[in-house]
Amino acid sequence: MSKPYDPSVEGAQMSFKDRMSYSDYLHLEKILDAQAPLSTAHDEMLFIIQHQTSELWMKLALHEIGSAIRSIRADKLEPSFKMLTRVSRIFEQLNSAWDVLRTMTPSEYTEFRDSLGQSSGFQSWQYRAIEFMAGNRNTAMLRPHAHQPELSEKLEAVLAQPSLYDEAILLLGRNGFDIGADGKRTDWRETRSESEEVLVAWQAIYRDPQRYWMFYELAEKLVDFEDYFRRWRFNHVTTVERIIGMKRGTGGTSGASYLKKMLEVELFPELWKVRTRL
Ligand code: HEM
Repeated sequence: MSKPYDPSVEGAQMSFKDRMSYSDYLHLEKILDAQAPLSTAHDEMLFIIQHQTSELWMKLALHEIGSAIRSIRADKLEPSFKMLTRVSRIFEQLNSAWDVLRTMTPSEYTEFRDSLGQSSGFQSWQYRAIEFMAGNRNTAMLRPHAHQPELSEKLEAVLAQPSLYDEAILLLGRNGFDIGADGKRTDWRETRSESEEVLVAWQAIYRDPQRYWMFYELAEKLVDFEDYFRRWRFNHVTTVERIIGMKRGTGGTSGASYLKKMLEVELFPELWKVRTRL
């Protein structure tokens, strides 16, 4: 038998007594110590890790969307394209992750469901922040976070600023398009109302991509984002129905029926409507 290869012969660092290691840099002890199943059910670990990894990807999505918003505000569209592409890829990643969770059957979930109490993804503040940042602003969704002032402040800070879609529309306004009432808004807390002017502006852009290439590309990046986001919602509700049928959610909503209603939410409505007009 040949001797096992020793990578130190080619310079691999093998001693980390006074050096920062991989685990130190990534704080792996904290992350890998954060799974605390409340039952003895085998599948609870899958459930916890699936949620925690989703939250980590959501953290990155928020980081990217926040930067994309600032870039558009500063008329720097190219960097925003790169960030928005990354956000779509993050959602693609989250979409594939449902395949792992789908391996859990209703019988397996039932074994630990009671341990969750009233906790539910419905109370994910990062998910709500993504929706608020994108442009779907429902202040009723602030209520589950009222008992945590720090999180409420973070969500309020998002609502105090224009959303990603608001910024895209303001950009069109700065470039000579008539954006109607969107040009006069000062309060960003509520979702904007759809407008004929904005639809007409996107129509002009889609009718002449060569002339308006940057706005056209931004529009397609936004549609990509929403396309992947919709798939996430759809995969979630399908997984939920597969696992709990039409039972109520642990968070207290009607469950799959509530999630099906959420499939109708449109983040960038005029960008979908413009397709019918072309
Ligand atoms: C066994 C797996 C899962 C089941 C049965 C399930 C069930 C549900 C249900 C029934 C709701 C509606 C609110 C409620 O009454 O609880 C909900 C909401 C939600 N879940 Fe899940 N879920 C699962 C996995 C996940 C995972 C892995 C994530 C990833 C973070 C997630 C994130 C969310 C979010 C963000 C909402 C709020 C959606 C909205 O308000 O539009 N869920 N879930």
